[in-house]
Amino acid sequence: MGQLAGKTAVVVGAASGIGAAIATLFAREGAQLALLDLAEDALGEVSARCRGAGAEVFASAVDVASGPSVEEALNAAAKALGGIDIVVNSAGILDETPLLDMTTETWERTLAVDLTGVFHTSRFAAPHLIARGGGRIINVASQLGIKGGVGLSHYVAAKAGVIGLGKALALELAPHGILVNTIAPGPVETPLIGALSEEWKAAKRRELPLGRFGRPEDIAPTALLLATSPGGDLYTGQTLGPNSGDVMP
Ligand SMILES: NC(=O)c1ccc[n+]([C@@H]2O[C@H](COP(=O)([O-])OP(=O)(O)OC[C@H]3O[C@@H](n4cnc5c(N)ncnc54)[C@H](O)[C@@H]3O)[C@@H](O)[C@H]2O)c1
Repeated sequence: MGQLAGKTAVVVGAASGIGAAIATLFAREGAQLALLDLAEDALGEVSARCRGAGAEVFASAVDVASGPSVEEALNAAAKALGGIDIVVNSAGILDETPLLDMTTETWERTLAVDLTGVFHTSRFAAPHLIARGGGRIINVASQLGIKGGVGLSHYVAAKAGVIGLGKALALELAPHGILVNTIAPGPVETPLIGALSEEWKAAKRRELPLGRFGRPEDIAPTALLLATSPGGDLYTGQTLGPNSGDVMP
């Protein structure tokens, strides 16, 4: 029996990278899955992989920046799968923009996807978790939300916001039996950091105590811990850092 047998998990940002690895691991552990992402084609591939691992899968194209589209997708997922127990927020965008080149539009889009997206998912999933008598919300922020980063003021502000939002929701939702936690990874080899220069990556690797970037498969087990019982039972309002030793809070 898998560790998530009988559980239904929504993974937002499931089409690529960390979200795809979490969806795949959760499928192997017996969860039923609702997979949401903006990238419809890639979502189809990940859905097929999860079905291959034995999961029942509901998939829907969603822009997390749009509250109504998130609400509609979550309601449809709950109807299709019979409820929601676990929500993982892994959708995100990243670009390097120095403050002096930052337009309000760039700032607002990053905040809309990376922070407001987490609010939308939490806001519209919470009634479904409450209906089940409890559940788990697991948000993927970034260690940059703790340590800051040059040319990333919009991303850093959004990720620091996700860490703060996680603490506020942990307090507010504890009476409903909902545990809310944040994963703040260090650099992970995914398309998200594809635009960063090889020079930057090589310098960053040298800086890391463990000397290497993570792979999505290195991050997924932290989400599994937070999603399962008894391993995750005493974590709420916490920020876990699978980060190659880059940040030691
Ligand atoms: N890769 C890293 O180094 C790293 C480090 C720390 C934190 N993170 C965070 O991890 C999360 C996952 O990133 P990743 O590295 O797997 O990147 P990724 O680009 O591989 O995956 C991100 C996913 O989010 C989806 N997405 C983007 N905008 C969306 C929107 N508006 N609505 C719905 N889906 C949308 C993309 O289509 C993609 O499938 C992100 O929140 C990212 O900020 C990544």
